Amino acid sequence: MKLPASVHIKEVGPRDGLQNETRIVETADKIQWLNLLSSTGLSYIEVSSFVHPKWIPALADASNVFAGIERKEGVTYAALVPNMNGLERALAVNADEINIFLSASETHNQKNINKSISQALEAVKEVTQQSLFAGKKVRGYVSTVFGCPYEGNVKTSAVEHLCEELFSYGIYEVSLGDTIGVANPLQVEQVLERLLKKFDSSLFAMHFHNTYGMALANVLKSLEAGITTFDSACGGLGGCPYAPGASGNVATNDLVHMLHQMGVQTNTNEEKLMQASRFIQDKLEIQLSSHVYRAEQHKTMSR
Ligand code: HMG
Ligand code: MG
Repeated sequence: MKLPASVHIKEVGPRDGLQNETRIVETADKIQWLNLLSSTGLSYIEVSSFVHPKWIPALADASNVFAGIERKEGVTYAALVPNMNGLERALAVNADEINIFLSASETHNQKNINKSISQALEAVKEVTQQSLFAGKKVRGYVSTVFGCPYEGNVKTSAVEHLCEELFSYGIYEVSLGDTIGVANPLQVEQVLERLLKKFDSSLFAMHFHNTYGMALANVLKSLEAGITTFDSACGGLGGCPYAPGASGNVATNDLVHMLHQMGVQTNTNEEKLMQASRFIQDKLEIQLSSHVYRAEQHKTMSR
């Protein structure tokens, strides 16, 4: 198997990881956690989202979090934004990059952002134009690529159509979301085979949730297809409140460990990632799902 020399990791823990947690982490603790994540070597962190606080109360403090973090040189601090209202809030705190999102299935899109797909595309187009005008790069998420919690199978032709639209607006990268973690490696191969006939592999990132434990297998298949950018969450936190049954993102710890074990560079310090994981576990008072985190914690305890 031919592997790339290095892989680019986009840390989504502070946004995807916290949006679904019932316990709301204090703003000061989020800031401390983000600073710890910045010190691991990760070069891209999605800090928070500027959605309606009624729907995602856990991230209602997005502006204060942005204002409080130390911006480390070389790190991109991105914001998830659903519409113009969100963009204005993100620009007010000088987010480095804007991430927009929509789903490949109508029902999930409607439940998630209260718009049809065609209405969402209009909003995304405007947000992208205004972001680029403000000098911000824009990345796009297409959700439910491998399955929808409401509609089941999702046609890859629908995903392809959305990618075409997003790239035509000036979005530099599309993150293909397995929102509910139902993808399997064969499906990943088939979806990517189709999309990569039309678009270059450098235009995509993969965003795997790990509900059925197949996220790392899916990462491996994506690497084989030529993808070199992956989203992951510290400790394996994550989930979408509008995707019943969805669990955490692939853990950054597990992803980094697998890649390092195979000789693929990520520029991420595993020990510092452990420290950041321990910090957020204590604040959330949960047991993190990352296998590597648990294994390392067990080793430390039995010493
Ligand atoms: P809406 O109710 O349709 O919005 O919500 P509206 O435009 O009709 O406005 C209604 C009110 O909301 C107005 O206030 C607006 O000002 C306000 P009022 O006049 O009634 O006082 N409003 C806002 N307030 C704050 N921030 C905003 C904003 N926009 C309008 N941005 C909206 C539409 C999208 C805002 C809402 O549905 C929402 O916030 N949804 C949350 C969606 C979400 O965060 N989902 C999880 C993230 S997506 C995900 O997890 C998947 C991903 O990880 C990839 C994967 O796994 O596949 C990315
Ligand atoms: Mg997600």
